[in-house]
Amino acid sequence: MANFTKLTTESELPPINEAKEFPCGDKLICVANVNGEISAMENVCLHRGGPLGQGVISKGKVVCPWHGWEWDPKTGEAQAPGAKVAVYTVKIENGDVMIEL
Ligand code: FES
Repeated sequence: MANFTKLTTESELPPINEAKEFPCGDKLICVANVNGEISAMENVCLHRGGPLGQGVISKGKVVCPWHGWEWDPKTGEAQAPGAKVAVYTVKIENGDVMIEL
């Protein structure tokens, strides 16, 4: 059964074409808003551990603020071969943003 926990509220979500990081338990989650579509993935860049939620969005990808690797927030994949972070299902319910971990 799906196990959703509250991540944040709808009003705290990043604006269109921005990303933001949110604490969730003992980790941080990168939430991206690509043209109004919200998605969530692991916040830690697999290159050197950069904070993806502090990056900008360019052409639908979250750009790591440290060295510019581009991550697809829907699939968790970067342009580097085999580089993939976890993605999480999110849903909005009564103004709360729920995440499935
Ligand atoms: S740490 Fe993300 S690109 Fe280097």
